[in-house]
Amino acid sequence: MSSIIVQGRTSLKGSVKIQGSKNAVLPMMAAAILIDGVCRLDNCPHISDVEDMAGLLRQAGCVVTREDNALIIDATRIKEDVRFDESVARIRSSVILLGAMLGRCGRADLCYPGGCIIGRRPVDFHTMALERLGVTFSECSGRLCAEASKLQGNSVYFPFPSVGATQNALLAAVRAHGVTRLVGCAREPEITALCLFLKRAGAKIGGVGTGELTIEGGDSLKGIRYDVEADRIVAGTYLLAVAGAGGEAFLKKAPVSQMNSVMEVCRQMGASVEAEEEGIHIRAKHSPRPVSMLETQVYPGFPTDLQSPVMTVLTKAGGPSRLRETIFTNRFHTAGELRKMGARIHCSQRDAWIRGNDRLTGALVEARELRGGAALVMAGIMAEGRTCITGCRYIARGYENIVRDFRCLGAVIEERPGKADHL
Ligand code: UD1
Repeated sequence: MSSIIVQGRTSLKGSVKIQGSKNAVLPMMAAAILIDGVCRLDNCPHISDVEDMAGLLRQAGCVVTREDNALIIDATRIKEDVRFDESVARIRSSVILLGAMLGRCGRADLCYPGGCIIGRRPVDFHTMALERLGVTFSECSGRLCAEASKLQGNSVYFPFPSVGATQNALLAAVRAHGVTRLVGCAREPEITALCLFLKRAGAKIGGVGTGELTIEGGDSLKGIRYDVEADRIVAGTYLLAVAGAGGEAFLKKAPVSQMNSVMEVCRQMGASVEAEEEGIHIRAKHSPRPVSMLETQVYPGFPTDLQSPVMTVLTKAGGPSRLRETIFTNRFHTAGELRKMGARIHCSQRDAWIRGNDRLTGALVEARELRGGAALVMAGIMAEGRTCITGCRYIARGYENIVRDFRCLGAVIEERPGKADHL
């Protein structure tokens, strides 16, 4: 397992092209199972979550190939009785295979999904929604075994706008008989992207982009070509890195319209941020200003996935800040690693108080989840001296090449093979 070595403290300057979106492409890969033909996903990021999902699709009988940045999925022959192995537990999006397999074959058998350790991640809204569409779950030694002799459209009310549960219900609903109304849906851009993907393949979906989706189920979906949008969380990470380290950068292809809340927070912290036709330009001349209270929220609010990166920036702010995590129950792990670098952060379950005015110093720190890992790389850039980040496999789940990207922005950073136990 490799580690990342960063020599701080550098301000950033340069331009970087933003990769395709992880959270948009993974559900599309699952959705390809519904298509009796070939799908081509252009701008598909080279990340380990995509490789893991590709492995699962192969288990289901799909032929999955790469052509440069495109991923091609041929789901003509599906193994209806596939029993997905434990690699399901490597990624969270594997749970969307439930809706896809039920939609295509009327059955699904997989173990519980994995993903980052950021608190409770139950699947009760997923199972509730699918049960409303006629699916029966049976308990089989801790696995999710589901069957539906006939998927039947129905109304589904989500108690919370869960991204994954909305995606699962959508995939089953496009192949159900009759009309399904999904109420209280998540409105994240990745849901809109999945709807557009399915519509291009022939699905009939109304209310796209709103909290209420109406799906007229149908028989078959046709093979398509789709260009995956740029990753708003990767773009947000780099935006925040410049806000924290200072400097100037252009983020090519950043999905401007999806990033208002993040751009606004950067402005509150004193950076100048301009949306341009081809991306986002940011300039940060001074130390960031503190933020009295910043809450993570469902879209279009500030994304929970950028909570650790913004916490990192606020360690350097000229005064105290408070962060509230409202989406996940246990997402402050990064604070412990930042403390090793000199940050003064106090956390309760939902709130983090960041003292600010901290001079971070390089240390040996460990990434334990994807976005928290990226935040530690940012901290290394902002810190005096040398930082070594281990646990890089978590970062590789969602960032194509964070070392290459930060080098484009002028950081002094390298990847070192093997396990590091000292600086
Ligand atoms: C997705 C994203 C993740 C992001 C999150 C919130 C992917 C692969 N992951 O995760 O990056 O942080 O949205 O924007 O797209 N919940 C339940 N029961 C359920 C489902 C969810 O209680 O059946 C709760 C969760 O525990 C959590 C909240 O709802 O507290 C939000 O979860 P959800 O929107 O489902 O997130 P994911 O789809 O897992």
